[in-house]
Amino acid sequence: MNTINQNDPSVSGNDDDDIVNPWEVKAGSAAGVDYDKIIGKKRIDLEQILTAYEQKTPFYLYTGRGPSSEAMHLGHLVPFIMTKWLQDVFDVPLVIQMTDDEKFLWKDLTVDEANRLAHENAKDIIACGFDKEKTFIFSDFEFMAQCPNFYKNICKIQKCVTYNQVKAIFGFTDSDSIGKIAFPAVQAAPAISTSFPFIFDSEQITQPLPCLIPCAIDQDPYFRMTRDVAPRLNFPKPALIHSTFFPALQGAQCKMSASDINSSIYLTDTPKEIEDKIKKHAYSGGRETLKEHREKGGNCATDVAYQYLKFFLSDDEKLEELKQDYTSGKMLTGELKTILVDVLQKLICEHQERRKQITDDDVKEYMKPRKLKFR
Ligand code: TYM
Ligand code: TRP
Repeated sequence: MNTINQNDPSVSGNDDDDIVNPWEVKAGSAAGVDYDKIIGKKRIDLEQILTAYEQKTPFYLYTGRGPSSEAMHLGHLVPFIMTKWLQDVFDVPLVIQMTDDEKFLWKDLTVDEANRLAHENAKDIIACGFDKEKTFIFSDFEFMAQCPNFYKNICKIQKCVTYNQVKAIFGFTDSDSIGKIAFPAVQAAPAISTSFPFIFDSEQITQPLPCLIPCAIDQDPYFRMTRDVAPRLNFPKPALIHSTFFPALQGAQCKMSASDINSSIYLTDTPKEIEDKIKKHAYSGGRETLKEHREKGGNCATDVAYQYLKFFLSDDEKLEELKQDYTSGKMLTGELKTILVDVLQKLICEHQERRKQITDDDVKEYMKPRKLKFR
């Protein structure tokens, strides 16, 4: 997990090799995205947020999901697991934005289909275990009509950002629809607490609250823009915590693509599909021949099975042991993959069990504008 300083808006989202933007993440090297190059060497401590926590002044968490398909993949789970952990540790309210408007604008989806997917994906998100008393999930299409303050903040942000600036940040061209050009303000607005008066307007809270945004590096352009705009509107800058990007099965140099079902593992995959995908498609950092592998050992930096275990094997000692055995050549790719298959079958099976329990009424409750509990 990297914490990142976004102070410098001149730090570009791209370098020569890595492609990192909201539409594509492809590393230049098999070892993955070079974070230092994107965000600069200055990595923040979470000073503002930790000080607020220590002084018991309130703050909140904000994250989101673009509901573009029924099935979320393992990578999507990563920031939500992180967010759940942060909610448990800090014991603060959380808002989760479902950008059905964004997916309508970018993808070949009708308004109603994008909105339906927002509700379907909300079930996967709720299945991560978020506390109902402290979590508000909203669809942009719905919330826009429920809360004038949200739209007022969107307009304030839109007034601060020129076409030239969004072109530079997002790479929009003259043939992009005006909907896309206006959208970044919609993703920025939930970082401002006054967008949620029913949560944050109370006798105890007299000032706009700071927020912490867990997400992956692909969302960086939105929040670089947000951090630039917030102080000009007299709001606190949001703090960010980026989860490391979860690589495609074919490795960090390939794009995880919704059109290639073998590029990632989905939360809807069966145990058999999980096994087949890993055994057939996971990029191996092992050697060509058994003899060579035993002599020289495997490369954990590029091996996808090892990379995936780094995310989902909770036992750090076991992970270190696997690393040593694989690097020394004692352990073979097939053996490492078998361990991964077990871990993921269990993880996804448990997720599917929890998701099955979640009803449409549960979703409604999480999506109802209401007071949330503070510690
Ligand atoms: P979306 O739906 O593309 O992604 C949802 C979340 O998953 C992260 N993510 C990944 N994390 C690790 N490894 C991966 N391979 C991977 N792929 C995606 C994303 O960074 C994101 O955190 N526009 C946003 C929705 C959004 C949002 C937000 C996200 C609205 N407000 C605030 C984060 C924070 C989107 O389409 O996300
Ligand atoms: N990143 C996704 C993709 O593979 C979906 C996407 C399209 C997206 N437009 C976006 C994500 C804008 C964030 C912002 O294309």
